[in-house]
Amino acid sequence: SVLTDLIYAGSNAVAGLTEGAVNDAIAKYGAEAKLSFPDTAYFFPTIYAATGVKVTKLGDLPACVGVLKSLITNKEDLGDALNAGLATAVGAEILEGLKFVNGAKPYENEGGIGFVPDPVIRSLGVPLVTGDIPGVAVVLGKADDQTQLAMVVKEYQTKGLLTFLIGDVIDQAAAAGVKMGLDFRVVPLGHDVTAVIHVVTVAIRAALIFGAVQPGDLAGLLKYTKERVPAFVNTFGALNEVVVSAGAGAIALGFPVIVDVDLGENQVPGALESVTNHMDTVKKSLELRSIKVKAKNIEICMGFASAFEGEIIRKSDMHAEFYSGNNPTCELVVMRNLEEIEDHKITIIGPDIDGTAPVELPLATYVEVAGKKMQADFEPVIERKVHHWFNYVEGVMHTGQRNLIRVRISKDAYAKGFRVKDLAEVVYHEVMDEFASVVDKCQVTIVTDKAKVEKILKEEGMPRYAARDERLASMTDESVDTFYTCTLCQSFAPSHACVVTPERLGLCGAVSWLDAKATKELTPAGPCQPIQKIGCLDERTGSYTEVNKIIGEATHGALDKVTLYSILEDPMTSCGCFECICGIMPEAGGVIVANREYAGVTPTGMTFGELASMTGGGVQTPGFMGHGRHFISSKKFIAAEGGIERIVWMPKELKDDISERLNKTAKELYGIDNFSDMICDETIAVDSEGVMAFLTSKSHPALKLDPIM
Ligand code: SF4
Ligand code: NI
Ligand code: NI
Repeated sequence: SVLTDLIYAGSNAVAGLTEGAVNDAIAKYGAEAKLSFPDTAYFFPTIYAATGVKVTKLGDLPACVGVLKSLITNKEDLGDALNAGLATAVGAEILEGLKFVNGAKPYENEGGIGFVPDPVIRSLGVPLVTGDIPGVAVVLGKADDQTQLAMVVKEYQTKGLLTFLIGDVIDQAAAAGVKMGLDFRVVPLGHDVTAVIHVVTVAIRAALIFGAVQPGDLAGLLKYTKERVPAFVNTFGALNEVVVSAGAGAIALGFPVIVDVDLGENQVPGALESVTNHMDTVKKSLELRSIKVKAKNIEICMGFASAFEGEIIRKSDMHAEFYSGNNPTCELVVMRNLEEIEDHKITIIGPDIDGTAPVELPLATYVEVAGKKMQADFEPVIERKVHHWFNYVEGVMHTGQRNLIRVRISKDAYAKGFRVKDLAEVVYHEVMDEFASVVDKCQVTIVTDKAKVEKILKEEGMPRYAARDERLASMTDESVDTFYTCTLCQSFAPSHACVVTPERLGLCGAVSWLDAKATKELTPAGPCQPIQKIGCLDERTGSYTEVNKIIGEATHGALDKVTLYSILEDPMTSCGCFECICGIMPEAGGVIVANREYAGVTPTGMTFGELASMTGGGVQTPGFMGHGRHFISSKKFIAAEGGIERIVWMPKELKDDISERLNKTAKELYGIDNFSDMICDETIAVDSEGVMAFLTSKSHPALKLDPIM
């Protein structure tokens, strides 16, 4: 058929191109020249996942070209032709990889980001599982009409999808005013069509990171991407054979391709379809991938979507600012009795933001909620959301919480009519939307009058914040009788489950015990199920028959034993989206911790990404533990192995961030003052000898403990 002919023509062209490029590169740089994509532990991810081969130098490539060619049978069969599409993906990976030979940085001035590093993929785990990012759109080509392209991309943005752009559409979208960057969920990859591989490897690494798919298991890989990665492709403009064969590769991975030219009888229902009217592109695309977008209909004049969360409003673009450094501010959610409040009552006390920029005002966002199932413990859970909700508004920026916040409203939003009452509307509607099962009534008061804000802060805010902090501090694993599972990440990591306790939050850092408890109330059959704290087998490791039983059920039998406090004995598993990873440094008798943001190497000789690749996908790997930032200063952190006095190295930023709480814990547990000063960091040393010398000079306590393993 025309279609298979086109696919084969493209695949054969790419195969020829790839073979030539590999031979040229070897002639020029030699077979030993180093070859790697930046910041990944998965080599050439497509080749690694499909065949298990680890490409590290040019000399590894000729064999891969052989595999690539073997995928192209040129037989008149659609299944075979789709495999040829995979060959195109492999070819694209090699062609892109060659750009990075000997550590070159080909994307520095390209206008696209090129290869997506592992830590970025890990950071996408939580928004993808919560549906905050409901899907992934791949948009490539050159649009005949850039305003129609922009319309489509902006609609994905408004719906919260993550969109990757490849080709001329990058410049066209930019020219049409699309806001771009990872923060805006519109990511330009590169101008060459081969750059499409950089989104393909995101899906492929998701299978390796979250899905525990074994390298070489091609069938398992294709099943994972088809079932669990909600991606699709939109092409703009005329198609050539290379685009068609790349599209075939996408289809093989399970991603439908929607083109804007009429393919007539060459369409493949559900996989390759024509939508020539761009008004229907988004709807059709979402439908083909069964992506459901939570409708957010709030009567405000500005866009409201999670895609705007990362928007930064600079001073020069700002109309109004509410900043605790200059004025009193307060965010407070309080529980009331049902008869005390009136639903949807919005009250504004004090001046609005009318006037000439910059308008500076105090701000209290005072939210009263009531409901039969409401509990005081949910107040902070709702309150923390205000930060996100304000940020979802296009033209509004929010940082901080409680009495320390900064809110900015842009000139654009002001010009379009945005006023403080709209902030109240947003809070009201989101409370009723997200917390419907516990909140029956909600009223919102926005106060910009200085004396009134001060009064609220003094009489209600500060005392309540203090009481909550006290409650949190007094909440230990011993003080409760219930822990919770969290299985939210199972949509990507089918055999993973977190056990969330007061002292050990979920490894993503986003689910505390209170959050889990609230989630159970909000969605009774949802991801957080209670675990009665009974059947203690070993207090040291935190081992319970009931935990084992429930975790067995939650992981569908993948796991039958898990401890709460040990990194070596039946440790908790990881999905892949952990904030930090802890690994062992045997010569120091201790552990090192690295956070996702740290790009350098650690004293184990591995980067965060490499350490992270040692665990994940719900597989138990003694010696490696993914965890949240806040867990580090907990008394339960690797308590079975001796606790935090085992920590010998951390990146400086992480250490500074947690040092206050860490020092407090060390003082309480061991009587050590300023423990964080004894912990080495990358500004002191990352090599084993340097770290050991530093630890010795500080008489680090780990040196005197029994060997850790
Ligand atoms: Fe995923 Fe665990 Fe976080 Fe739940 S607590 S969202 S399972 S990482
Ligand atoms: Ni309303
Ligand atoms: Ni996860």
